[in-house]
Amino acid sequence: MSKVIALLNMKGGVGKTTSSINIATGFANKGYNVLLIDFDPQANSTDILLDIKQEEVFINNEVTEAINSMDSDKLEEILKHLNKYNYSETFIDQMLFDAELTKTYQTTVPNLHIIPSRLELAKAEKEIRNGDTAVHNRLKRVVKKIRGDYDYIFIDCPPIINVLSTNVLNIADEIIAPIKIDRGAEKGLIMTIQQLIGIATSYDLDILIRPLFTMVTNNNQSKERLQVLNTFNNDIVKPIVPKIRFQDKPVNKASFENELIINNNKANVGQDYRNVVDYLDKEWN
Ligand SMILES: Nc1ncnc2c1ncn2[C@@H]1O[C@H](COP(=O)(O)OP(=O)(O)OP(=O)(O)O)[C@@H](O)[C@H]1O
Ligand SMILES: [Mg+2]
Repeated sequence: MSKVIALLNMKGGVGKTTSSINIATGFANKGYNVLLIDFDPQANSTDILLDIKQEEVFINNEVTEAINSMDSDKLEEILKHLNKYNYSETFIDQMLFDAELTKTYQTTVPNLHIIPSRLELAKAEKEIRNGDTAVHNRLKRVVKKIRGDYDYIFIDCPPIINVLSTNVLNIADEIIAPIKIDRGAEKGLIMTIQQLIGIATSYDLDILIRPLFTMVTNNNQSKERLQVLNTFNNDIVKPIVPKIRFQDKPVNKASFENELIINNNKANVGQDYRNVVDYLDKEWN
């Protein structure tokens, strides 16, 4: 049976997507079968892991060439290729229209599949709320069908709490809550944990919250903050020991070029994510 882990924090820009794609890749690199569900209408994980930009360039070039040369074999080949990348069956379709359907897509990373997102996912929230069937279990119904195919399922969540997130909490075994170490991080962490515990309690859920400290810098303020944050350590909250350092250039370059920083042997952040994956691998096996 697979483990389901949600990357969740109501605060925006704290490293949920960066952590989702890199931790999922780290487990796939270790040979596990991994699925990432992109649950954010911004679809950042989808763009990076399906390498949409490169795909568009490829299609533009190939189609132009095929049309120019009137090469029908080539056109047929492109059509086949387009079909492969036509990921129209996104999560929203599966949630709203056919919960039996569970289509996953191979990413650019071996052993890593994705259920992609798109902007329309934002509409799903309203539709689900207005729907009459077990609203909080839609995700559970979809994931139940494919759980057996994967060792780990990671869910990249949007920076809000709504009916989509309660769906996530209803299926997650654990939550990784990326916490950006900056002014207000302590308050943010307390609020995040309180909110998550509140929801978990109201749905009678047994859940472990693992804060992951991201974008840690070398100054003392950060060290003091880390100490305060590390005092949260009990049955419900267990901080991830390795931390992710702040490193502007390589991280931005990676996200701009749809690369995965965990595969970069020269960047500190790459090493940090490998350490986090090793740590979690030990915790879970
Ligand atoms: N360790 C790091 N060092 C430097 N920059 C980072 C680091 N981790 C993430 N970033 C940058 O911080 C920004 C926010 O990261 P990310 O998109 O992962 O956050 P998020 O929580 O998913 O955001 P949202 O709430 O919008 O979904 C991005 O520009 C990302 O490149
Ligand atoms: Mg994100």
